[in-house]
Amino acid sequence: MLSYRHSYHAGNHADVIKHLVQVCILNYLKRKEKPFCYHDTHAGAGLYSLQSEQAQKTAEYQTGIGKVWNYTGDNAEIKAYVDAVRRLNQGEDLAFYPGSPKIADLLCRATDSIQATELHPGDYPILASQFQRRKHCRIEKMDAWAGIRAMLPPLAKRGLVLIDPPYELKTEYQDLIKGLQQAIQRFPQGTYAIWYPVIERKAVESFIDAIVDTQIRNQLRIEYCPLPDAEGFGMTGSGMLVINPPYTLKQDMENCLKELSPLLSQSPAAHWQVTQLVDE
Ligand SMILES: C[S@@+](CC[C@H](N)C(=O)[O-])C[C@H]1O[C@@H](n2cnc3c(N)ncnc32)[C@H](O)[C@@H]1O
Repeated sequence: MLSYRHSYHAGNHADVIKHLVQVCILNYLKRKEKPFCYHDTHAGAGLYSLQSEQAQKTAEYQTGIGKVWNYTGDNAEIKAYVDAVRRLNQGEDLAFYPGSPKIADLLCRATDSIQATELHPGDYPILASQFQRRKHCRIEKMDAWAGIRAMLPPLAKRGLVLIDPPYELKTEYQDLIKGLQQAIQRFPQGTYAIWYPVIERKAVESFIDAIVDTQIRNQLRIEYCPLPDAEGFGMTGSGMLVINPPYTLKQDMENCLKELSPLLSQSPAAHWQVTQLVDE
């Protein structure tokens, strides 16, 4: 089943948190000259028009990037994220939003490599068309977990794997845990950033517990909920579980969320956490 289209949700509060974490990790990897690999398991279309029928229908970006776009503070990570979005938009109008592979394309150096898999027959060609001129890249219309088996470990023995499934099916949570274990067996030194939605609190905690139970070391949880937990109200927040995070990520994201929470909050009961779940 491939009914999910990210064009309805591009630039929402969950994308802001996910892509900010992605920017923090990529910028950390760039501190060393040695090239790294960015691997995106569920890449989406890469670039989204916020004027499209889909984006206008939900208007989710207005409570996400729309609130952060005019950021004037000093936080270097938030500035780097907003700067990446601004590079796709001429002038002051927010018209386009980059997906995760596009953010990687904007931030990675020519020597770094980009690998991405996407299955949707509509989104894959849009994605692939943006990478035709890039060297050191492999963009495949392939299942995410087959892609992990085919492409990990990368030639560069350092990098980030972003895992961002649509969770249309309940089985995707189990598939992720199995795929993650296979990925870590192949590429244990990689950093892994796993996105998850907050829809039902009990289900979220069971999913997190199941990842903790894998015995994988060094797990950092970053979560932001602009709305209080409530069942039956859709997605009230989202999180990133990061395995082998840069040592700077915890402090960086605490600083970011202190500044972003007042901008993104939709309720006095908005809440966030940055928690080391499993030690190194
Ligand atoms: C949440 S979206 C990705 C958004 C993207 N990572 C971003 O941040 O811009 C999930 C994507 O996964 C794709 N997808 C679903 N199942 C997949 C699978 N088994 N393998 C690869 N891609 C899949 C969907 O078509 C959808 O485009």
